[in-house]
Amino acid sequence: PISHSKSPLIHAKFAQQSKQAMHYGRLQPELGGFAKAAQEFFAAGGKGMNVTVPFKLDAQALADALTSRAQLAGAVNTLWIQDGKIYGDNTDGAGLVRDLLAQGLALNSARILLVGAGGAARGVIGPLLEQAPKCLVIANRSNAKADDLVKIFADLAAEYEVALESRTFSDLENPAITQYPFDLVINATAAGLDNQSPLSHAAAANVFVPSSFAYEMLYGKTTNFMQQALQRGARVSDGLGMLVEQAADAFLIWRGIKLASSIDPRAVLAQLRS
Ligand code: ATR
Repeated sequence: PISHSKSPLIHAKFAQQSKQAMHYGRLQPELGGFAKAAQEFFAAGGKGMNVTVPFKLDAQALADALTSRAQLAGAVNTLWIQDGKIYGDNTDGAGLVRDLLAQGLALNSARILLVGAGGAARGVIGPLLEQAPKCLVIANRSNAKADDLVKIFADLAAEYEVALESRTFSDLENPAITQYPFDLVINATAAGLDNQSPLSHAAAANVFVPSSFAYEMLYGKTTNFMQQALQRGARVSDGLGMLVEQAADAFLIWRGIKLASSIDPRAVLAQLRS
């Protein structure tokens, strides 16, 4: 549901900061109705849109051309029209990386654990690898999906000399299997929506130390995953900064990169938090 989406407010702030005349609203098609709704939007003069779950794959299918990061991400969160052609990009991973860097994380040479292997996880793997961490371990409840992601991103990992590996959830509980702890643990699962954490007590005890940083992609509440990290003295963040930063990238795609210095995503984030 997008009725409580913060995106209209975020884009209104960017438009205000950069003095752009822009209207950003909400559209919620029926399941199966994405392509028709998007085509009508562009036919009526709409210039661009963000797309969220469950339509990111429909958006990818609709686009006439994709950026390479959207291809790798396997999903599209930003569409725009130019000379009658619809383009698709994915700004989620870049948004996550910028939020992490803005919070003072050193990603280069970091040991990263990514929990989850759905669309949200896949969308951020490319930009994380491009930061050249020491290792990126992907763990998912259904192991095969994590293995698939390791295969898809193997070439990019080799290019940036990152050890990219998958682990099962039971591996995470076994101190002998992975070199613990992690500098950064990202929760890209939907478990928080059900008030659950993907990490068992034993896994949390292995992966977190006080110097760890736990990043929850959801926002608006302190999830069980964040609580597990806090209990072990780790720093935590929710995903509100990622939301603002991915929006900033989309805004610059639509309105022009020349506005990059006119918008201030961190100020918008601070306003949202207050
Ligand atoms: P999204 O596009 O938001 O990533 P998704 O493709 O449905 O949505 O993926 C949801 C992710 O959350 C998956 O990694 C899922 O694990 P499975 O692949 O094993 O289904 C994970 N997930 C959801 N609920 C979970 C829970 N309670 N514990 C652990 N992982 C969970």
